[in-house]
Amino acid sequence: MIWNNSEDDIAQAAKAIRAGKIVAMPTETVYGLAANALDPEAVKGIFRAKGRPADNPLIVHIADYGDLERYAIPTDLSRRLADRFWPGPLTMILRKKDCIPSVVSAGLPSVAIRLPAHKTAQTLIRLSCCPLAAPSANLSGKPSGTTAQHVVHDFGDRIAGVIDGGPCQCGLESTVISLLEDRPILLRPGFVTPAELREELPDLKIANAVERELEQDEKALSPGLAHRHYAPAADTVGLLGRAEDAADYIVRSGNASSCAVMCFDGEESCFSDQADIILPYGKRGDPISQGERLFEVLRRLDESSVNRIFVNCERSEGVGLAVYNRLLRSCSFQMIKV
Ligand code: TXA
Ligand code: MG
Repeated sequence: MIWNNSEDDIAQAAKAIRAGKIVAMPTETVYGLAANALDPEAVKGIFRAKGRPADNPLIVHIADYGDLERYAIPTDLSRRLADRFWPGPLTMILRKKDCIPSVVSAGLPSVAIRLPAHKTAQTLIRLSCCPLAAPSANLSGKPSGTTAQHVVHDFGDRIAGVIDGGPCQCGLESTVISLLEDRPILLRPGFVTPAELREELPDLKIANAVERELEQDEKALSPGLAHRHYAPAADTVGLLGRAEDAADYIVRSGNASSCAVMCFDGEESCFSDQADIILPYGKRGDPISQGERLFEVLRRLDESSVNRIFVNCERSEGVGLAVYNRLLRSCSFQMIKV
């Protein structure tokens, strides 16, 4: 079932949620696969539909600031961050209250909470009369869904339906920050940038796994940092540097046949001799434009029959850290400076 954005349709979707079913909803970041966070059986259905490992906890979505205190133990910092960044693409990890079932938190004593800015998501949460547990709406390990069509492609009839809110504005998942320790830790970069967070949290730490692969004996601070993620089936390699140098690298590596290239807008012609498929994913130096299209392009390539994908990329700050973090994982950390 595909619902539209009208109040009547959202009410139908909320009815499905109240009946213990799973509904995909648009948010400003990516689509979420939502169920009643207080109903363990409904939440188990999310894990089954995604093929998500049971050790990877879910974000609980709320529509009113006051609800944070119903499901988590607030701190001075969480109140300040909520005032500044909510509603919006920031998720906070806090100690959980007992009403949050352990299937949601994957057995951890903490819970991730977010108040999304998307009006449809807010309306769905309010009409459902419960908080919504929702991971990104994609099969586990695959690029996140940023349109209703992506969700239909991945889940079809295995969920009650999707509310079509058009393409997501950010295109990348929320910034995740843990407030469990003395020092706040950035676990996943997103549209709320480290510089913005540091205005409120001068001692913010960035988790090692944000920018590099964990060592074998290193423990992930968040289960999601350890799992394979955002990856197309084809072997995917990141090429950091200028388009001309990336094209040279592809020729030298002898991979010019049956490969695809993801490049920056306007640089397609640099690769025309090197690849069967060339898809631009945004402007060089403009990570916001890259974030909008990244998952869409990764998904398109995943449906093609190429066996190798090269991604020309750059490493930058701000939202650029979020794009780089997702690409590192899409490339299974195969990132080469050219
Ligand atoms: O933008 C978003 O955050 C989207 C939309 C739907 O809200 N949701 C999303 O959920 O990206 P998901 O499940 O794909 O990513 C949530 C991340 C995972 O890496 C998970 O491991 C981490 O948050 N996480 C959730 N609860 C946690 C907890 N209690 N402790 C540590 N990490 C947690
Ligand atoms: Mg996800």
